[in-house]
Amino acid sequence: MYTNWETLKKECMSCTRCRLCESRTNIVFGGGNENAEVMFIGEGPGKQEDLTGEPFVGRCGQLLDKYLSAVDLDRKTDIYIANMVKCRPPQNRDPKQDEQDECIKWLCEQVRIMRPKIIVCLGRIAAQRLISPDFKVTLDHGVFERKGGIFMMGTFHPASLLRNQKQRPQALEDFLKLRDKMREVCGKNYNFS
Ligand code: URA
Ligand code: SF4
Repeated sequence: MYTNWETLKKECMSCTRCRLCESRTNIVFGGGNENAEVMFIGEGPGKQEDLTGEPFVGRCGQLLDKYLSAVDLDRKTDIYIANMVKCRPPQNRDPKQDEQDECIKWLCEQVRIMRPKIIVCLGRIAAQRLISPDFKVTLDHGVFERKGGIFMMGTFHPASLLRNQKQRPQALEDFLKLRDKMREVCGKNYNFS
């Protein structure tokens, strides 16, 4: 149990709990506002993220920013972004079960300290682990489910939206639903017009 964010981060930044530590350049602890009431969780760092140590800075990140700005959200102030694993899987393969099992311990501590009101899972890897093992993004996206006092929702991963333009209107609807949920449950820090 870590009592505060800085201690947790310091400890995490030298993590060697799984094999992904061997090939990483940087650990991507997460980014944005750790006092936000909304947390986004992706899959794992890609090439640009590994090189910079920041989440969602490559093409996927640019697309994510577009969806955020469409609903008046800024990743620096309004949300926090983390991933299921904090080190880049080689060739961007899916993170393996045992790697997720190790890394989720860090994520759980981040959630415990942050106490977000809402968690948005970006893509299958996060949604199946955090919402339901049989989560299907195409069927179950955009639906909020309350778990452990947190409203959880899964939506399309930006990488999927880059490949499949047809999903984009559905993704936008999910972000609009997020905004509605934030109006309902988040504090006055968020003043939507
Ligand atoms: N894709 C992810 O899932 N996470 C990142 O941080 C970047 C790309
Ligand atoms: Fe540690 Fe997570 Fe990196 Fe594995 S992926 S070495 S558990 S920080």
